Amino acid sequence: MIPSEFIDLLPQLQRKLQNINHPDSLRISNEILQYVINEISANPCNENFINPNKKKPAKKSIENLKSLISSQIDVIIEKLKNNMPWEYFKGSAEFCGYIFQVDKNVLIPRTDTEFLVYYSTLSILQYFFSEYVFNNNDLLDKLDSDKSSINTITIIDIGTGSGCIITSVYMILSGIISGSINIKNISDRIYTEQLEIPHICFKTNTRLITERDIFELHEYFKKNRNKIDGFINDLRKRNLVSKWFALFDFIGTDISQEALSIATNNYQTIKKNPILDDKKAILNSKDVQFINSNWLKNIPQSVFDKSSVFIISNPPYIPPEVYLKLDPSVKDHEPKLALVGNSDNLLSAIMGLSKERQFNIKGIYFEDYCMEH
Ligand SMILES: C[S@@+](CC[C@H](N)C(=O)[O-])C[C@H]1O[C@@H](n2cnc3c(N)ncnc32)[C@H](O)[C@@H]1O
Repeated sequence: MIPSEFIDLLPQLQRKLQNINHPDSLRISNEILQYVINEISANPCNENFINPNKKKPAKKSIENLKSLISSQIDVIIEKLKNNMPWEYFKGSAEFCGYIFQVDKNVLIPRTDTEFLVYYSTLSILQYFFSEYVFNNNDLLDKLDSDKSSINTITIIDIGTGSGCIITSVYMILSGIISGSINIKNISDRIYTEQLEIPHICFKTNTRLITERDIFELHEYFKKNRNKIDGFINDLRKRNLVSKWFALFDFIGTDISQEALSIATNNYQTIKKNPILDDKKAILNSKDVQFINSNWLKNIPQSVFDKSSVFIISNPPYIPPEVYLKLDPSVKDHEPKLALVGNSDNLLSAIMGLSKERQFNIKGIYFEDYCMEH
């Protein structure tokens, strides 16, 4: 929260952002002011002034602080004037409720991609419940006695960048089973927000994800809510939650080693902060593996044996001629390797390898370029 003494700096900051034609001035002005106040209050010399638990600062010191804040804001405005995205300046971006560190080696995670994460996670869960639970009533016994007889589910995020997709899927699945995340909220969210994603194609295998698909997914979880809740309760009662989570393999690949270091770091940091204590045990039962690879080529064969594979990807898909016309905040700052490409390359790599290594792809969910935009 911005302390009331400094709130009048906000309209000034918004004007400065508008003066440099920043496209997102309203959204980021609050964040910038809060960021500068946090930075200044992190300096022990200033703590007495800003920390709300300490006695109120004297009027004179408020004025001093305001001019300090204003001058730091000017430094930021200068950078933003050169089209540097705010997320690169502050070094982080929020995605699916988690904070991911970002720098020039990775794409800034986009809000649109949250849809991809929620939709694909629910589709994978739908597959799991239909194939492993509703069609099969001895899963819990098998988990208890002979887990090796159960096929695993491998989730691969190709072109992981900051690691935002695979880390979020991992946190959401563990959250659903530990009770900190509710399937209904996710299902409602993609259902009600589906029309707010106009400039990207979301595809499953080679066709567009339609409103009908989203409706049917939403209905599935509505119809089966009691059965699913019952299964999760049984898992908890029989202490099988960690064994359940260990049925999943999580993999993120990227051709950029720099991106993979950032992804690994993000995953480790986000995993370290579980809200619930019992979630720690779940998370300790499985890790995301990050693999340096051209698409999925370097993933070891053992991952594919006895596993149903799901692929989620936000690949580079901007045609070269469109790239040249992108906003400078994207073109001049975000990695070209993350932007320019064609999703056909990804699809032919997946299809080629799945034939060669004979693995069982159950679903591919990816973002693609929309010709009409
Ligand atoms: C659009 S970015 C997506 C990053 C992240 N998944 C996200 O949604 O924010 C595409 C990513 O694919 C990676 N990439 C590009 N070509 C690749 C290839 N041949 N194999 C694997 N990764 C690749 C880039 O390095 C980049 O991190």
